Amino acid sequence: MFSATSRAVRIGARRVAPRAASITVAPMPKISLGQTTNIARSLSSTARLSYATTTNPNPPLGKKNASNETPSRIGLIGARGYTGQALIDLFNDHPLIDLRHVSSRELAGQELKGYTKRNIVYENLSAEDVAQLDKDGKVDCWVMALPNGVCLPFVQALGQSSSLIVDLSADYRFDDSWSYGLPELQKRGKIAQATRISNPGCYATGSQLALAPLLEHLGGPVNVFGASGYSGAGTKPSPKNDVNLLRDNLIPYSLTGHIHEREISHQLGGAPVAFMPHVASWFSGIHLTINIPLNKTMTSRDILQIYQDRYAGEKLVKIVGEPPLVKSIQNKHHVEIGGFAVDKTGKRVVVCATIDNLNKGAATQCLQNMNLALGYDEYQGIPIE
Ligand SMILES: NC(=O)c1ccc[n+]([C@@H]2O[C@H](COP(=O)([O-])OP(=O)(O)OC[C@H]3O[C@@H](n4cnc5c(N)ncnc54)[C@H](OP(=O)(O)O)[C@@H]3O)[C@@H](O)[C@H]2O)c1
Repeated sequence: MFSATSRAVRIGARRVAPRAASITVAPMPKISLGQTTNIARSLSSTARLSYATTTNPNPPLGKKNASNETPSRIGLIGARGYTGQALIDLFNDHPLIDLRHVSSRELAGQELKGYTKRNIVYENLSAEDVAQLDKDGKVDCWVMALPNGVCLPFVQALGQSSSLIVDLSADYRFDDSWSYGLPELQKRGKIAQATRISNPGCYATGSQLALAPLLEHLGGPVNVFGASGYSGAGTKPSPKNDVNLLRDNLIPYSLTGHIHEREISHQLGGAPVAFMPHVASWFSGIHLTINIPLNKTMTSRDILQIYQDRYAGEKLVKIVGEPPLVKSIQNKHHVEIGGFAVDKTGKRVVVCATIDNLNKGAATQCLQNMNLALGYDEYQGIPIE
């Protein structure tokens, strides 16, 4: 059991130490196809400046972020779902995360299984209940693991509360008053200071990590083919998580205008991206095959080097030579990026990426963001391989 400490002390501890990254990344410019050359030129000079000091322009804060030794009390709304359960597993092994409230309408009254640090019973918390618990100083951080479009009343009820809120849905991913929590691509110091964090989508995390290093070399629209395990569709029964329909099958859906298409493009400064998702018969894990036209001739080796430099020191991004396999990423906490097949013109590369949608695609990334914003080691409680 954790000892109780006053909320003021926790929040104080969370705010006192400066945790801004010493090296920051220039914001992504808006990109349209006709502009890519000029933008490439300006990005090149930005990159050159940054690369003069380190090959990774946004290095991990890691242990440097660890300024708070006080456990944080967590309220998890949407605890029954796939991402909620993945979070509970991670919280159970985190020395400074003290889960206090788990909310589910369906499981209300039942004991929470899989959490050994204290006995917790599922509650059906309304937005008003959440606001009251927060006002009474019972929770330091709220995690919203709810379907899209559901968390607004909870967020509204929390109002200007200084508690940290991390939302796993798409509801705040386009809202500039929230911090977009993709630590490898956003200013980590900004996430560390945030109280409202929008956790990126699973496809969007894998796609952005696989595309960002080549942004300055884009020579045309990018095509992303994605195939996800059916846990990506959540627990609410639908054709996309119907195991009978999925057996020996691959189901294309939302082939244009998927919210992750907008999210990837928006977060990469308007880069033209066409995203074509599919759902597959396995439970978790995403495979992405990304076709990238280049604005100059490059070799596979050049491109591999760019990725290795860009992600130097990252513990949750691995650059590999061969195309990574979804079978190897299931239950892992990092993203793998590989392939780098260049065609004979030298101006088209195919990059592959794999990510476990429930881990780095959701719960692991949420914990990474919580660690940053609560003042813990960025990777605390995250199994690193
Ligand atoms: N699954 C993934 O791979 C993945 C990856 C990245 C991001 N996300 C995002 O993370 C969020 C959660 O996804 P998930 O897959 O965990 O969903 P899920 O398995 O369907 O779980 C949804 C949770 O929300 C609760 N819930 C549903 N409707 C509710 C309502 N109207 N009011 C209050 N609670 C409600 C459910 O519990 P009760 O019905 O018992 O209340 C359940 O705990 C979604 O926004 C999703 O887009 C998911």
